[in-house]
Amino acid sequence: MQTITTVAALTAAITEAKKDNKTIGLVPTMGALHEGHLSLIHKARQQNDLVVVSVFVNPIQFNNQEDLAKYPRTVEADCEKLAAAGADIAFVPSVEEMYPEPVNTVYHFGPIEEVMEGPRRPGHFSGVAVVVRKLFDLTQPNRAYFGEKDYQQIAIIRNLLEQIKYPIELVPCPIVRADDGLALSSRNMRLSPEARAVAPTIYATLQQAVEMSEVEDIESVHDFVIDTLSSFQEVNGLDERLKFEPEYFEIVDDTTLQPIAKWEDAKGVVGCIAVWLDGVRLIDMVRFR
Ligand code: PAF
Repeated sequence: MQTITTVAALTAAITEAKKDNKTIGLVPTMGALHEGHLSLIHKARQQNDLVVVSVFVNPIQFNNQEDLAKYPRTVEADCEKLAAAGADIAFVPSVEEMYPEPVNTVYHFGPIEEVMEGPRRPGHFSGVAVVVRKLFDLTQPNRAYFGEKDYQQIAIIRNLLEQIKYPIELVPCPIVRADDGLALSSRNMRLSPEARAVAPTIYATLQQAVEMSEVEDIESVHDFVIDTLSSFQEVNGLDERLKFEPEYFEIVDDTTLQPIAKWEDAKGVVGCIAVWLDGVRLIDMVRFR
């Protein structure tokens, strides 16, 4: 595996690959790699001649500077994992390399960015779009791989591809979970052992919600999830630090991402959640229909 840190060296490698008519798979990441990322790389490996993985903590998608500062950075370990997973190129640029000039571009995505993460993280999706487009421009991939844990992000990238009309196949990949059900996330490593032990309650509650959805209406299922998580610490007599604080749980049309009032209002229905636990913001999602 080649580790590349400059745009010039990446451009040279991509030009070479294109000359040889190689298909290119891009896996954009912010590092702190776990099995979820590796599943994207394995998929990219199966489907492409050249697999490029970017490792870049993108400052312009963080609306909270403390979150940016605390974001785990484990580049050496990441490169070892990438080599073992069969990546051909690890692209690990500095912030100055990616953004030599101040970024002025702003992307808009309409209703799909006005729900869930959008209003709570102003500028986040525009920042994601700027870096992803830059990575698309630099690597000219045939396919790009994204995890479904960030369900809204996938809708945003799909919309970005429609806006910029690049012939790139977007490949969404299923969430990878720990044995106890917690969705794998780079942020999990910031949980204390006690918080990590209770964190699977999020997915367990979502699974109960899916069962409930067979007989209950949307409002009842929504309230069940919020109430179960919000009261978990008190009901179980746990330390105050182990309190779940749901930021949102939204039951939405899986394509438009707009909230629905009745199960029949959409063909596909998903539930997306963001919850604070022990100072860490965790997200997850389930499919209802
Ligand atoms: O999902 C992520 O890790 C990031 O949002 C991405 C797509 C790598 C862009 O920085």
